Amino acid sequence: MITAPPLHRSVAGHGTDQDTLPRAAAHPAIHPRLVVPGSEDGPLGLAAERALGTYDKGRYGTDPALLMDTLEASGLRGRGGAAFPAHIKWRGVAAGDGPRVVVANGEEGEPASFKDRWLLTHRPHLVLDGLLLAARTVGAGRAVVYLSHPLTVAAVRTALAELAEHDAESAARIEIHTVEPTYVAGEESAVCQSVNGGPALPTAKPPRPHECGVDGRPTLVSNVETVAHAAWISRHGADAYRTEGTRTSPGTMLVTLSGACARPGVYEVPLGLTVGSLFAEVGGGLNDGVHGFLMGGWFGGVVGLEGTGTTVCYDAMRAAGSGLGCGAVTALGPDDDPLRVAARIAAWYADESAAQCGVCVNGTKAIRDTFARLADGTGSAADHTRLARWGLTLSGRGACSFLDGAATLARTTTAVYSASFPTS
Ligand SMILES: Cc1cc2nc3c(=O)[nH]c(=O)nc-3n(C[C@H](O)[C@H](O)[C@H](O)COP(=O)(O)O)c2cc1C
Repeated sequence: MITAPPLHRSVAGHGTDQDTLPRAAAHPAIHPRLVVPGSEDGPLGLAAERALGTYDKGRYGTDPALLMDTLEASGLRGRGGAAFPAHIKWRGVAAGDGPRVVVANGEEGEPASFKDRWLLTHRPHLVLDGLLLAARTVGAGRAVVYLSHPLTVAAVRTALAELAEHDAESAARIEIHTVEPTYVAGEESAVCQSVNGGPALPTAKPPRPHECGVDGRPTLVSNVETVAHAAWISRHGADAYRTEGTRTSPGTMLVTLSGACARPGVYEVPLGLTVGSLFAEVGGGLNDGVHGFLMGGWFGGVVGLEGTGTTVCYDAMRAAGSGLGCGAVTALGPDDDPLRVAARIAAWYADESAAQCGVCVNGTKAIRDTFARLADGTGSAADHTRLARWGLTLSGRGACSFLDGAATLARTTTAVYSASFPTS
């Protein structure tokens, strides 16, 4: 379950309501690749997608080596959070022995992100095309779409049925795997364990999925937005892809803007704008009194108002001590008391821990209880010191990176909002 709704106003009033989805728009200065005209309000059907070139193997479509080189030249980086160069990961799987498996990860457990839900419900054929492309490129016999939200499941089922009428062979290669929504269910080893019939919980590494994943085979787990960009690149080429974005973060990306701004929503934007210009140019402007941001969703921690000047590109974000993650940015306004916000997110971390590693169970609970004390006014200066220490010492612990998110929350909140903590 997504156990806590995004902070006050999330996405155009849609929150985490399971029956409604956000609308999306493209930055006015780009030729959109994902949020194309006609897709804003509902799913693009097969005929409309084919008119755009979807499922047309085209110039790059048949030769795996050429596809891999094109992917490398494009500089595409994964959109699932870690921003790993796609071609390195795809080549790693292709180098494995025997039949491989590809999984398009559309679980999207991050509470502040809605972009995968938008993509799956508005461009399901583009995702399926990207998945088939990934299967061809890495030499996979099995292709799986991994989903949890009921609306995404319905949209992909409908698209697959449509595809079956046109290309039964391709449609028959794709399976849909559904899973109960939890935050850790989207982590790649949890994805593989779930597709294998087990619980959607992270497993110990090594081995990593690219070595031994679904069916014990080399498995590519790729975010649905990543495979959608790959499908676009296969049709238009690497140079066309690089006409937007920066040298190290090329292309466009889907961002989810929420919180204290005029027009929360999902937007396709070129990489390389600043956070401030994102909110100004597509988010309708920041509300008065904004004092910071949740960067990269609930996983990425907080940055102060100086974050408006940070460039939305993977390297600049990292250099600023933050991360772009899945592209979710929440503006914190005057109603968002930093300690209450942190307490709410910390409570969510304690709820969402897979409870497999002692350090995660104890660490998330300790962070939750400490922020709760601070939020209700019973905390002390020692709590500030404790949280700052845990922010450093708990990082990198546990079987998956889940605890890193709680540690980052502690580390960044104590640093950015130190003035909000008690002094005695
Ligand atoms: C706790 C946790 C949760 C994750 N949830 C998701 C998710 O919901 N969707 C997703 O695409 N990646 C998620 N990831 C990242 C995946 O493990 C994996 O890196 C990603 O699917 C790879 O896609 P990419 O290479 O296209 O970015 C999560 C990672 C962690 C540590």
